[in-house]
Amino acid sequence: MGFGSGQMNYWEERYQEGGPSNTGQVVESYRWMWSVIKKYDPHPEDIIDVGCGDLTFWKGRDCLNYLGIDISPTILKKNWKERPNWKFNCQDAATPISSSAKTVLCFNVLFHIVDDEDYLRIIENLTKATEKLLFIFTWTRDPYRTPAFILRHPGAFVHYALGRSGIYGIVPHKFRPMDNSLFVQAGLVLIGRHICPLNQGIGTMYVYERKKVKPFKKTQPQVGLWG
Ligand SMILES: C[S@@+](CC[C@H](N)C(=O)[O-])C[C@H]1O[C@@H](n2cnc3c(N)ncnc32)[C@H](O)[C@@H]1O
Repeated sequence: MGFGSGQMNYWEERYQEGGPSNTGQVVESYRWMWSVIKKYDPHPEDIIDVGCGDLTFWKGRDCLNYLGIDISPTILKKNWKERPNWKFNCQDAATPISSSAKTVLCFNVLFHIVDDEDYLRIIENLTKATEKLLFIFTWTRDPYRTPAFILRHPGAFVHYALGRSGIYGIVPHKFRPMDNSLFVQAGLVLIGRHICPLNQGIGTMYVYERKKVKPFKKTQPQVGLWG
């Protein structure tokens, strides 16, 4: 699981050194992500945020029932101080999530999961935790295979092509195409797929909804025919 595969060490060390969850066009991409969320959930008030990180995504926003899950105790301690009314749980997302919420978020996490079994467990846990909506923001194109990246970082490309993870093996990264069948099997349907216009369209927001179960129709007992 993630704790054993070095995932915890990487993030814990990064946060202990004061590093942020994300770099690059953070403000613009969070603004775009919020605009997508609001289309489906105009007032998100019941949230589980898996791999919540440093909560920059939540800057200037609030939520009535919020549970943030992350593997790093350092970032969660910091979050607790900033948001004393919110709940936080330090756990590997590959271990079962013991609660559920109307809306589950998992942003910029899946492409950091290197172990294939952990990846499948995380997807399963996300699908079980959502009562209605599941938003996943992840890569739809492998940035390591873009010509711009290969030209800028040939060493990192070779490293990655040889099956080692991440930029020079430091940041854990692994690209996998999204497999919708995993969500369908779990009773969810894909209701939206939005390619982010930033960062060369590498990231996509996937929106899943729990399939509505049709209420069982009671047939009227036939009375009076024989009795
Ligand atoms: C790139 S940050 C994303 C933070 C936030 N979701 C965002 O988009 O701003 C990835 C986060 O996932 C967390 N993480 C990585 N692997 C995890 C795992 N197996 N279980 C729980 N959290 C994990 C890291 O600690 C980190 O905070």
